[in-house]
Amino acid sequence: MSTTENTRIAPADGKLGILIPGIGAVSTTFMAGVEAIKQGLGVPVGSLTQLGTIRLGKRTEGRTPRIQDFVPLAKLQDLVFGGWDIFEDNAYEAAAHANVLEASLLDKIRKPLEAIRPMKAVFDQNYVKRLHGPNVKTGGSKMDQAEMLMEDIRQFQESTGASRLVMIWCASTEVFHKPAAVHQTLKDFECGLQKNDPDIAPSQIYAYAALKSGVPFANGAPNLTTDTPALLELARARQIPICGKDFKTGQTFMKTLLAPGFKARMLGMSGWFSTNILGNRDGEVLEDPGSFKSKEETKLSVLEQILQPDLYPELYKNLYHAVRINYYPPRGDAKEGWDNIDIFGWLGYPMQIKIDFLCRDSILAAPLVLDLVLFLDLAQRAGMRGIQEWLSFYFKAPMTAPGLYPEHDVFIQLMKLKNTLRWLRGEDLITHLGLEYYD
Ligand SMILES: NC(=O)c1ccc[n+]([C@@H]2O[C@H](COP(=O)([O-])OP(=O)(O)OC[C@H]3O[C@@H](n4cnc5c(N)ncnc54)[C@H](O)[C@@H]3O)[C@@H](O)[C@H]2O)c1
Repeated sequence: MSTTENTRIAPADGKLGILIPGIGAVSTTFMAGVEAIKQGLGVPVGSLTQLGTIRLGKRTEGRTPRIQDFVPLAKLQDLVFGGWDIFEDNAYEAAAHANVLEASLLDKIRKPLEAIRPMKAVFDQNYVKRLHGPNVKTGGSKMDQAEMLMEDIRQFQESTGASRLVMIWCASTEVFHKPAAVHQTLKDFECGLQKNDPDIAPSQIYAYAALKSGVPFANGAPNLTTDTPALLELARARQIPICGKDFKTGQTFMKTLLAPGFKARMLGMSGWFSTNILGNRDGEVLEDPGSFKSKEETKLSVLEQILQPDLYPELYKNLYHAVRINYYPPRGDAKEGWDNIDIFGWLGYPMQIKIDFLCRDSILAAPLVLDLVLFLDLAQRAGMRGIQEWLSFYFKAPMTAPGLYPEHDVFIQLMKLKNTLRWLRGEDLITHLGLEYYD
């Protein structure tokens, strides 16, 4: 067993500043949760960094430390928060508006939440059609806006004394758009920022500002954002880790749990119909066909990749896969996702499976935000740069190197994540071969 580390990891000394575009349901549930956990008012359920363990060496060695004791991660006590939103509500007011956490809990952590006041956002109505807010930066080119964001970042770091920063996009889903000419090289992109190119989305201006400032960037929404040659070039040149896209929380999480199982048993599938009702602001934004299209693309891609109909035409060639999302205000953040799955077995005999997941979107998303910021900060301190495929575990549409298909199976994703941690610390990778136990 090797005991040398493959990589030198700088210690997690000092405060870690978390910068969040979008002070909405997900981000306030995350920040309020961290404050509550710090005060002993709750348990970080759903967070691998806080509760997960990692097996090291052979099964007979009995070495299974907690992940947070195995790799140096920032402590919850050392996290400080800041962000931007088009609305002026502080994080306490935004959390109360989101109506995810109970008022009695929010009151206990009111002070730290009230101190988080959103900075003026970079916003473009063409990218999020249904929202209108007063707290936006006005005037200047897109490059000027990027510079204003860089100044915000500098000031945040100075006022909080954070030694390191991470940015995570928790703002609304932008309309679907494909990489254009302006996204091809960093030079084109910077020229486009100067000339206000309409193909540059606000999320890309935030990502540019983050990367230029040396700040790792994660994308919790399905927007294109850093998934472009220009911003990948910047991330690599600046030695900065990035990851995305679109938190894998509810329905897609269930899909990536179940579909690998059906495929493992060589069961066929003729249809998977998914429908959702939700009544939060995210649901309202997703009523716009452009924003829905971004979401639909990431939600639809998983089954095709997992089931590989090209390799298994008898089982999956004719699969009909549909995803619907409907805005239904009475439900608020308590989403309901129904799935009807038509599978078939021996000799093609049909069967059906129904799932009715009464979930809470932001409760599922908050621990993913926590893990992602802690792991991205770890990656930065370990000198990892560009796309962090080992964080695919957290995303519906994991970013990969150009030409590489993404891995969607949640158990393979977890193995990849844990093996990356083992590799970082010079531990043997676990292959599950296990022949040595029978020698
Ligand atoms: N909750 C989940 O399970 C889940 C899963 C996957 C992805 N997501 C994505 O996470 C994001 C956040 O979800 P939410 O439920 O918190 O939504 P939300 O509507 O409550 O919060 C988003 C906030 O972003 C703000 N905003 C929009 N454009 C902005 C901009 N350019 N700059 C700064 N702020 C901006 C909005 O005003 C809003 O307050 C959405 O894109 C959603 O699709 C959520």
